[in-house]
Amino acid sequence: MTIQPPSALECRSLGFSYRGGAGATPVLQDVDLDLQAGERVAIAGESGSGKSTLLHLAAGLETPSAGRVWVNGTELGSLSERERTLLRRRELGIVFQAFHLIPTLTALENVALPLELAGIARGAAARERATTQLASVGLSGKADRYPEQLSGGEQQRVAIGRALVHQPALILADEPTGNLDSATGESVFRLLLEQVAATGSALLMVTHSSALAERLDRTVRMIDGRLLAQDRATADGRFAAGSTA
Ligand SMILES: Nc1ncnc2c1ncn2[C@@H]1O[C@H](COP(=O)(O)OP(=O)(O)O)[C@@H](O)[C@H]1O
Ligand SMILES: [Mg+2]
Repeated sequence: MTIQPPSALECRSLGFSYRGGAGATPVLQDVDLDLQAGERVAIAGESGSGKSTLLHLAAGLETPSAGRVWVNGTELGSLSERERTLLRRRELGIVFQAFHLIPTLTALENVALPLELAGIARGAAARERATTQLASVGLSGKADRYPEQLSGGEQQRVAIGRALVHQPALILADEPTGNLDSATGESVFRLLLEQVAATGSALLMVTHSSALAERLDRTVRMIDGRLLAQDRATADGRFAAGSTA
């Protein structure tokens, strides 16, 4: 008998509302989503439909108004704030549209930071591992540069290195190529795919590009805060088989 790894991400009946003067404004309703270990899923949908909110809930950065979220088998709502932070540092990597590197740290230091924060490696050991990781994103020669001394594409390569250096179960990427020209976006996307394949991380990626979405295992679409499944990949039987279990 094989032991199934836990889902990288499971969302059940997830809801989220903003509370304002006029009452609660629903942003997400009844969202169910399951990403198996290593599965790569695109989220499509119009601006304002709730895609980023879903990623924030998956990262435990917002608290759902309804429903529950599990990351790599642990329910976020069962954890204290501190435990949630630790889980995020160990199990998650996040890639933003606007890179969000720490401006006062070099490329190498940005990549080493998650290792230190998660308590995986410190000092020279963290630097050594970050050096290897920086080479794997093609930036060996730029380890000592600060973010403002790097191009947008290079900054996103550093951000991908940082998101994956601790081999998290799940990568959340919010329009990671949205600020890049199409050639740079293509090479950054290819790098992201290579890196998640190397670590076995699952990937949940918001994108407006159907050409990029088609290269993942499947696409879900957000419409007015509700998630519709579509385009379940059948060419590759890995995930089709799992869906009937
Ligand atoms: N701080 C906030 N207060 C109230 N409404 C918000 C806030 N942040 C986002 N929203 C609303 O939540 C909805 C979903 O936003 P978001 O998840 O960012 O959408 P997307 O990423 O799909 O563009 C939008 O209608 C947006 O206006
Ligand atoms: Mg968004």
